[in-house]
Amino acid sequence: MTHDDRDKQMAELARRHLVKGDPTGWFEELYRAADGDAARVPWADLAPHPALADFVARHEVAVRRALVIGCGLGDDAEALAAAGADVTAFDISTSCIAWCRRRFPDTRVHYEALDLVMAADSWPEGFATVVEIYTVQSLPLALRETAFEAVAALVAPGGRLLVVCRGRDDDPPTSGDDPTFRLPGPPWAVSHDELGGLERHGLTELRFADYEDDAGVRRFVAEYARP
Ligand SMILES: C[S@@+](CC[C@H](N)C(=O)[O-])C[C@H]1O[C@@H](n2cnc3c(N)ncnc32)[C@H](O)[C@@H]1O
Repeated sequence: MTHDDRDKQMAELARRHLVKGDPTGWFEELYRAADGDAARVPWADLAPHPALADFVARHEVAVRRALVIGCGLGDDAEALAAAGADVTAFDISTSCIAWCRRRFPDTRVHYEALDLVMAADSWPEGFATVVEIYTVQSLPLALRETAFEAVAALVAPGGRLLVVCRGRDDDPPTSGDDPTFRLPGPPWAVSHDELGGLERHGLTELRFADYEDDAGVRRFVAEYARP
């Protein structure tokens, strides 16, 4: 199967769930259908994101409590653990979490199946380091504010958050509808206005980079702190 076919299948699967009002059910179906074959998981690079290495180099993550949101197949969580952090990682898909545990049988990472919107109930004290790479961009635009509120709630006082996502221009102020169905995707790129949800929920933006990657995809890499 070509990557284009695989991405088309993913979009069809996501939209089948979206029209039923179930915006996150497709992740479990995708991981289950992949049946241990990472080539069938469109985002599975089987390596940590390069922005994470840069973040780890600039911050004292060792011995700190770290959280990876929407951890996928676990490479970012394992990289943080290798850097000495005490890592918890969660994903909404139980098959995905079972896959992480099979991939890393001797891991020090605590993997858990959980929905982002429930996560702050599990860890009200938050984490010193929080990593969110490509999760919120995989949720429809109508859920962005709720999702970023949930992400912000996981950052402890004095903590740092790394966000990596596809980027798009801010929407014109007149567009009041949910453009999810008009945009190609998933993923649905994130605007800087949407990232502002993190600041509306108590975080301060420390860094923001807007760039094109080697494949010509516009990305945002941003860092936040909770004072
Ligand atoms: C595009 S993938 C990115 C995975 C990983 N962060 C990476 O960079 O490879 C998005 C991940 O977020 C998970 N996810 C989506 N919605 C979620 C939610 N509400 N709570 C927790 N995980 C979620 C999906 O199951 C999927 O593994």
